[in-house]
Amino acid sequence: MTGVPELAEDFVWGAATSAYQIEGAVAEDGRAPSIWDTFCRVPGAIDNGDTGDVACDHYHRWREDIGLMRRLGLSAYRFSIAWPRILPAGAGRVNEPGLAFYDRLTDGLLEAGIRPFATLYHWDLPQALQDRGGWPERDTAYRFAEFAAVVAARLGDRIEDWFTLNEPLCSAWLGHLNGVMAPGERDITRAVHAAHHLLLGHGLATTALRGTATGPVRVGAVLNLSPVEPETDSEADAAAALRADGHTNRWWLDPLHGRGYPTDMVELYGVAPPVLGDDLTVIAAPMDHLGVNYYFRQVIADDPTGPVPRARMVALPDKVHTAMGWEVHPDGLEQLLLRLTDEYHAPRIYITENGSAWPDEVLPDGQIQDKERMAYLEEHLEASIRATRGGARVAGYFAWSLLDNFEWAYGYAKRFGLVHVDYATQRRTIKASGYRYEEIIRRHKRAAALT
Ligand code: FCB
Repeated sequence: MTGVPELAEDFVWGAATSAYQIEGAVAEDGRAPSIWDTFCRVPGAIDNGDTGDVACDHYHRWREDIGLMRRLGLSAYRFSIAWPRILPAGAGRVNEPGLAFYDRLTDGLLEAGIRPFATLYHWDLPQALQDRGGWPERDTAYRFAEFAAVVAARLGDRIEDWFTLNEPLCSAWLGHLNGVMAPGERDITRAVHAAHHLLLGHGLATTALRGTATGPVRVGAVLNLSPVEPETDSEADAAAALRADGHTNRWWLDPLHGRGYPTDMVELYGVAPPVLGDDLTVIAAPMDHLGVNYYFRQVIADDPTGPVPRARMVALPDKVHTAMGWEVHPDGLEQLLLRLTDEYHAPRIYITENGSAWPDEVLPDGQIQDKERMAYLEEHLEASIRATRGGARVAGYFAWSLLDNFEWAYGYAKRFGLVHVDYATQRRTIKASGYRYEEIIRRHKRAAALT
């Protein structure tokens, strides 16, 4: 790594997690079930039958985890707030112990000199709202704004940096179209309706946050985006790549930037998003920052008989793939950041997630020499620096993840952490990649102090 000093002095160095993936304590202090608690009980839905019941037990070990963040030298921490801890029925009665947990966490972070970045929705919809129809129902968007206001009223005096939704693509498409994530549905109409109400919820929550917080707040959404390339130069693959780009990128970016829904995609889905009144204006409320989760690019082949977008991802044989089967392609991050800058004029971008899973081995001396993760981290930071040089306003980087954790449908089998977690003992061990990250951060801070 040579380019670190080129980053802005106040570049934010963080790591990210989400509530259901690390907290555990699912039945404690008044928390009610979320759709993920329910989905984990569906036979065959999660590898090995794993659940988030205990996860990293962060609900009880958060002090130790802040200690790890300090040890890594992080300047920021992105976490999510569990809706079913705050409003167990999804709306109405506020559960004080739930709020108190995030209160303690926020104060603990601030005392440690770590800037909190809070995500309001990282997929854990209260089951009570799912029972009333979930995201395909318009009412869920209003309930989300209510949740945002309750949280902002309590934490908006201390937390300045906010994200509304994490990866609405996964909630809408993977949850309602492909059925591989909670709530496990496969219905294009419900999926398109969910997508619209998620985006509407983002807009309403943005206004609610800004209106309720007593301190300064900055708000945006987090999208998972991928550059898309056709596998061959055939016309069919080119058209498939355009559809995949619509499904992954434009469907979310366009309405958030005031361009409405891409008409080619509305036609492909055969379902019109249920837009009412000034919904599109609400959705396009100017964002202070955009969060980008980047993991891989998509190389796409036409798949005329497959599910929408009738495009299939192809794994190129000569490339390196992570334990998730995702291609390691740092140039894609640079490409993506430049596109967001050129096409969407993103004012401030945070890389809110980036990281990789590998079959980590704990050596007899207890160390984890995760060379591949270290290389992935360095190469993607270099790509971010190149994008910065090209004009992208990248304000920070959050490694996914601080800890090994519950990787959704893959359970605990996939490890993304900078810190290893032994789930039997809950012992945490910083991996070599974590030490490398610490060194990079330290070097940047030192260089920044000298300028
Ligand atoms: C993203 C999710 C995050 C984590 C990583 C690996 O899609 O936002 O929770 O699972 O993938």
